[in-house]
Amino acid sequence: MAFDLDMIKALYAKMPASIAKARKVVNRPLTLSEKILYSHLHADQKLENFGRGKSYVDFAPDRVAMQDATAQMALLQFMSAGKPKVAVPSTVHCDHLIVAKTGAAEDLTVANTESKEVFDFLSSVSNKYGIGFWRPGAGIIHQVVLENYAFPGGMMIGTDSHTVNAGGLGMVAIGVGGADAVDVMAGMAWELKFPKLIGVKLTGKLSGWTSPKDVILKVAGILTVKGGTGAIVEYFGEGATSMSCTGKGTICNMGAEIGATTSTFGYDASMERYLNATGRTEVAKLANKIKEHLTGDPEVYANPEKYFDQVVEINLSELEPHLNGPFTPDLATPISKMKEEASKNGWPTRVEVGLIGSCTNSSYEDISRAASLARQVADKGLKTKAEFTITPGSEVVRYTIDRDGFIDSFEKIGAKVFANACGPCIGMWNRVGADKKEKNTIVHSFNRNFQSRNDGNPNTYAFVGSPELVTAIAIAGDLTFNPETDFLTNESGQKVKLDAPTGDELPKRGFDAEDPGYIAPAKDGSKVQVKVSPTSDRLQLLAPFKAWEGTDLRGLRLLIKAKGKCTTDHISMAGKWLKYRGHLDNISNNLLIGATNFFNEKINSVKNNLTGQFDEVPKVQRAYKAGGIGSIVVGDENYGEGSSREHAAMEPRHLGVRAILVKSFARIHETNLKKQGMLALTFANKDDYNKILEDDVIDITGLTTFAPEKPLTIVLHHSNGTEESISVNHTYNKGQIEWFKAGSALNMMGKGATK
Ligand code: F3S
Repeated sequence: MAFDLDMIKALYAKMPASIAKARKVVNRPLTLSEKILYSHLHADQKLENFGRGKSYVDFAPDRVAMQDATAQMALLQFMSAGKPKVAVPSTVHCDHLIVAKTGAAEDLTVANTESKEVFDFLSSVSNKYGIGFWRPGAGIIHQVVLENYAFPGGMMIGTDSHTVNAGGLGMVAIGVGGADAVDVMAGMAWELKFPKLIGVKLTGKLSGWTSPKDVILKVAGILTVKGGTGAIVEYFGEGATSMSCTGKGTICNMGAEIGATTSTFGYDASMERYLNATGRTEVAKLANKIKEHLTGDPEVYANPEKYFDQVVEINLSELEPHLNGPFTPDLATPISKMKEEASKNGWPTRVEVGLIGSCTNSSYEDISRAASLARQVADKGLKTKAEFTITPGSEVVRYTIDRDGFIDSFEKIGAKVFANACGPCIGMWNRVGADKKEKNTIVHSFNRNFQSRNDGNPNTYAFVGSPELVTAIAIAGDLTFNPETDFLTNESGQKVKLDAPTGDELPKRGFDAEDPGYIAPAKDGSKVQVKVSPTSDRLQLLAPFKAWEGTDLRGLRLLIKAKGKCTTDHISMAGKWLKYRGHLDNISNNLLIGATNFFNEKINSVKNNLTGQFDEVPKVQRAYKAGGIGSIVVGDENYGEGSSREHAAMEPRHLGVRAILVKSFARIHETNLKKQGMLALTFANKDDYNKILEDDVIDITGLTTFAPEKPLTIVLHHSNGTEESISVNHTYNKGQIEWFKAGSALNMMGKGATK
């Protein structure tokens, strides 16, 4: 599938020297994470001993992966950058927009009709700009990436938080917002705060009912949903090497659930086996030649406390199967304690549905082990109590498990096979009866189990477990069933016990598929037309933002003085607005509708200073825009915290807001504003927030001499005829000031600038 062997060769050729230089500069042995980070510094980034959790560093990732929901705005922006082709190998995967309802074939047909224009758009942009396209039904982004593109020692970014899955094949793979993906695809540097490092030492060996999933469920219980924030989790030890490559992928995948930047494992024989089985023997051979550089230095793993910021140790031989939940992935309960916990907390114990698969857990090993349990249903005269569904991670996995009889085994226990897509994992599950909002329990092998995530029912108690445990519990129909100790009563009234699951790490007859679903881009895309209907309500081509007019900004109006928390969700809400992610004008109708107006303490109600009437924020801003009047948004502390969603910066820019002035910014949002050509300013004196009045007419001066570290001035013309000037700070460097002048970073790129 066109993995880029030349790129891997070039990286491996320079890695040993880059690592040696870094080791010299930091003057100590290196972890694997550091080796990968230091060998991916951007050409303009000076090598130094970076402060973990402190230094901002420019990197040059090897690849970009995008899923269909987030790719829309990323690619619309990329199109505006004026580049003929992506600078690094990139792929698009259609997996999020397929609703699971009846079964794979029918559900796919429906999605291909309902989201046709989005899929057509993504495929034509991919074709034009040299991006590999995986059509709907080909599989879930992270499974497809693991099967085709991930490689030891590589660095990848992806517009999805579970991009981290590729750590299972020894990568540093990180989930980002669309604007970051655009930078890398356009050949620019990608900035990341140098992460802290958490070492997880795995001793012993998994056996019986315990699986790699239980490792991360246990880690989540220890570190909690915030424990990995700003850190890379690096796994090592005999327990790590004894595990399959796909099992490592599962562990890395759920690193997102502890907030980790990413997780990774050193190159070993399991990765070599997986590369060979997935048609990448050449990559394995190359990796073998530099294998000591694709894992941490021995001294690091011998004395981890000295080299990691935190160390956790888990003995796999003593690890129990876990179920995490409900409503949060870090509430870890060993299965032997579930009876007690469920009764203590009043969790409904009758299980309605067991769901296996997803990007987290649909490897051949997972499915073969789960199938070994499904076969026992008939063998032992049992009847499966809960409904059961499978969402395979890729067509390659689906075809292979079908060929090897596993799907047949599942269908014999009444299973429904959904499309190779996200489906129930992302709430794209048309579950019959969910609208009644009844209290009920489901178990699944996905990664997230927040309230309402899977079926939209806030009263669904979702528990996360390994595919093996989920299958056993679905057979029993009982959340508290411990297959290690408990018996089931079969149809003839006999007590029977399930045997521990067995399976194969990789298919003995190899992976196969009639059509994996990949479409290679045109060699020369210059003639390819990108399809966007001008009447579409879901997609809209981006027009370049206007360049700065070359003068100070005068006569601005206050759109809103936001009070208290104002996250990217307050600025650009999700939910029903997700549909418009590819249509800037339509999604702009959610601009700041969640923010609280300081003056009336109301949400989505601000004064239109042209009429004196109160109205919704987007409507008032559209009135200013129609009148050719610029505006300013004032905010409190940590404005724009939350996600890296670029829409939160693009919407105000699109509607004519000229500056965001706050007490402090969340850093990523501040950068996003700069990229979109907005002025991101902070009060030199935070108390000046109080000087901003509802009817003020506002000037921003000093722009003709705009320079790094030089404050600007804001003049407030109050309605009572008085005037006040306040000093405002900014963090623009020279390059970013050029973005402002050009109208946006993309406009600058169009002019040929690279940074
Ligand atoms: Fe999709 Fe769920 Fe994975 S939404 S990408 S299957 S986390």
